[in-house]
Amino acid sequence: MDLELTETQALVVRTAREYAERVIRPAAADLDREERFPREILQGLAELGLMGVNVPSALGGAEAGVVAYALAMMEVARACASTAVTMSVTNMVAEVISRFGTEEQRARYVPRLCSGEYAAGSFALSEPEAGSDPGSMRTVAERTEDGWVLRGQKQWITSGAYAGVFVVWARTGGPGTRGLSAFLVEGGTEGLRAGKPEDKLGLRASNTVPITLDDCRVPADALLGSEGEGFKIAMMALDGGRIGIASQAIGISTASLEAGVDYARQRKQFGHAIGDYQAIQWMIADSRTELDAARMLALRAAYLKESGAVFSAEAAMAKVYASEAAVRITNRMVQLHGGYGYVRDFPAERHLRDARVTTIYEGTSEIQRIVIARHALR
Ligand code: CAA
Repeated sequence: MDLELTETQALVVRTAREYAERVIRPAAADLDREERFPREILQGLAELGLMGVNVPSALGGAEAGVVAYALAMMEVARACASTAVTMSVTNMVAEVISRFGTEEQRARYVPRLCSGEYAAGSFALSEPEAGSDPGSMRTVAERTEDGWVLRGQKQWITSGAYAGVFVVWARTGGPGTRGLSAFLVEGGTEGLRAGKPEDKLGLRASNTVPITLDDCRVPADALLGSEGEGFKIAMMALDGGRIGIASQAIGISTASLEAGVDYARQRKQFGHAIGDYQAIQWMIADSRTELDAARMLALRAAYLKESGAVFSAEAAMAKVYASEAAVRITNRMVQLHGGYGYVRDFPAERHLRDARVTTIYEGTSEIQRIVIARHALR
């Protein structure tokens, strides 16, 4: 693994950082406070190629690879974690359609996701009673004369009120993971309804809704991949998605640590900058070390995926470590800020709120450990 960035990777990082610093970061606190979906900011990301970083250029993507994608996610998340999760899920949807879609499905949806014509893409796997265990889902898809009819309830759907296209998982066969299939459902399809946005602890500018599928009719060619292949498609998409969430956690940690270091330099108590005290230095040292370790794990997983190697366990290691480190780092930085860490005038509390979900979504820490252990034991 080469630690030097290629020209393409460096260009993607510069592009993402410039846009994040100039446009996203100044808006982040207001977006959070107002719970405002960052529609125009997402359009800007699309125009820079950041909604399909690892998607073939023939389909409108940047074709810059997985490492570039991870690095871009880190930059965007450093500025605004809500924008980053929307970008992450949209990239995941564009990639999964590029990989498993027919020529027609790819041509229909991927350019629209990459160009920003669609504000976002959604990944509709979880249900109220099927989170860590998607194999127990209850949503069904029944064949009709000319297609499929979907019935069920989805939960925690990122960007569900704004998505141009959803990947929806439903049961087409018997029980368990082998009975599931994936479908592409366009936003606005009759019978697909987004519910009330969740009132979340963090990521308040991202949109998270339940989705009801009420006799939602889709054509025969809405099936993504083969019938019964849905669970594997979901798992493969999530392996990649977990690199995105690890990178998001790293971006949040970076911003949090930078704010903490600034504060430690400026804040004086007992006649000294608080950064002169060992208690504060240890917080900074531990955080820097954990952040770099997380970064190495995430880039290794990205590199393996880009090389075409098996990377499920490495993506899970990156996700569990980076997300748990993000919670520790952002919590420490709140502590370092004292009372100022607890109020909205400083970004420290937002970083902690935003970091918290990274150990939960796209597979909880407990699920990542199952994946890692199964790979080690088999
Ligand atoms: N790649 C390819 N195939 C895979 C795979 C992978 N990574 N993981 C499993 N499979 C295959 C297995 O080989 C097996 O194949 P066969 O049927 O041919 O034997 C099949 O899938 C079933 O596998 P398991 O028996 O391992 O399945 P399981 O029920 O024990 O579940 C699990 C495994 C890892 C726990 C899985 O259920 C899991 O990852 N759960 C977490 C779900 C999750 O991450 N949800 C996130 C929601 S999306 C989200 O949060 C997005 C957002 O909007 C932010």
